[in-house]
Amino acid sequence: MSKQAKAPLFEEMLRHMKEARGNFHVPGHKQGRVFDEQAKNYFGAALELDLTEVGELDDLHHPLGVIRQAEELAAELFGADQTFFLVGGTTAGNIATILSLCQPGDQLIIQRTSHQSIFHGCLLADVQPIYLCGEIDPKTGLERPLKPDQLKQVLAAYPRAKGVFLTSPSYFGVVQPLSLIKEICDSFGVPLLVDEAHGAHFTFHSRLPPSAIECGADVAIQSTHKMLTSLTMSSMLHLKGKRVDHRAIARWLRVIESSSPSYLLMASLDLARRDMAQNGKRYIEDTFKVLNQLRTRLKSLSNLMEVSLPGSHDPFKLTLRTRERVMSGFEIAEWLMGQKIYPELADHEKVLFAFSIGNKEEDSEFLYTKLKELDQSIQKMERNQIKWPSVVPQIPEFQQVQFDLRHRKQKLLPLTQAIGQKAAEMIVPYPPGIPLILPGESFTEEMVNYLLQLHRLGGKIRGISSSFAPSVYVVE
Ligand SMILES: Cc1ncc(COP(=O)(O)O)c(C=O)c1O
Repeated sequence: MSKQAKAPLFEEMLRHMKEARGNFHVPGHKQGRVFDEQAKNYFGAALELDLTEVGELDDLHHPLGVIRQAEELAAELFGADQTFFLVGGTTAGNIATILSLCQPGDQLIIQRTSHQSIFHGCLLADVQPIYLCGEIDPKTGLERPLKPDQLKQVLAAYPRAKGVFLTSPSYFGVVQPLSLIKEICDSFGVPLLVDEAHGAHFTFHSRLPPSAIECGADVAIQSTHKMLTSLTMSSMLHLKGKRVDHRAIARWLRVIESSSPSYLLMASLDLARRDMAQNGKRYIEDTFKVLNQLRTRLKSLSNLMEVSLPGSHDPFKLTLRTRERVMSGFEIAEWLMGQKIYPELADHEKVLFAFSIGNKEEDSEFLYTKLKELDQSIQKMERNQIKWPSVVPQIPEFQQVQFDLRHRKQKLLPLTQAIGQKAAEMIVPYPPGIPLILPGESFTEEMVNYLLQLHRLGGKIRGISSSFAPSVYVVE
């Protein structure tokens, strides 16, 4: 049996479950003996495996046994020197990476369109972010891949920067030219860190973009739960080379993550790795077949169309919009939800479908039938009935970010009165979780109009209280 056919952590948990005779440890449900009667059936056998650091079950924060073996197998499969299992999602990995690499006052080059966890990492580490902003593709409103020359200029302008932290792929699937970027980082002697939350499947097929680790990244953090099959909140942090100190990562993960990490989450990482090692290529080929067929059929629709993404991208992400912008993405999503179909994300224009190896032909068949129905009803709709936001806000140029606003006085204002005021909290349309406005940045008229329209069209926005009129906290 090959090493990769083993699941050391899961196997030890099974053995423990079968052999243990006396449970005098936490958690209190005692492997499911006491639990809500109705829910017990649903949680079922999983409760028996909800264990803790007893017997031979090792310790995530000081792994010497089965957790260490499971992490080593993951490192081998994903091409890393070392892999850390994460129970706080890629969020925990992003934050720990920044804390490991930077001292208070350091500079770090990041994208302005980074996920909020990267800004939270900068906040906690007291790091000054230097922004890289890709051009916005006018056709899709999405950020284009970065130009390597742009990175060279920023690195030359900020020689003190401790590293470059990029997101690849983006939520919509846009991939950065990581191999080129890595060469530039090397020439400046700084590490390349990659938030690869949406790219855990890349390792497993040559028709998918290369993974960040394959491109030479020093650190890559993947939400195994997003595009592979582990449980929600379980992720992996892969480390390659010596530029980032593995002991510092381990230390900061101990600070950030629970001291009682879930064995269900950790075992699910062990199992996702084993399943992909054995079947990953076949699973991905099957998903390609499902997607190719769907994409061919979508071409025959008259009113709905696939948005073609700028640059290299992840084919597992499918983005649709109406050709003549008759319906907003929110409305398309709402219509689909009325049919009990749930997409990943919608915005004022588009709807994003996240496919994975779990999507089978029958799912895509049902989706296509419903999309065809929608396509026909769009035909009868009045054209241009939607008022579109006049401007998709451009990402602001670099401003000195005043992250630490904890001790400043704040007041709540209706959004309409916030123009020219400094935000006290992040304003984050969620998903995708990219802050539109950061604490300390000013509300421009364009942003306020955009947010008002986003709000009216049904977008979920963190940082806006909307019990009465949409309002925001600003610095007094
Ligand atoms: C680009 C990106 N990075 C990080 C995260 C956080 O990942 P997790 O949910 O695994 O904490 C997300 C979540 O949506 C994301 O989109």
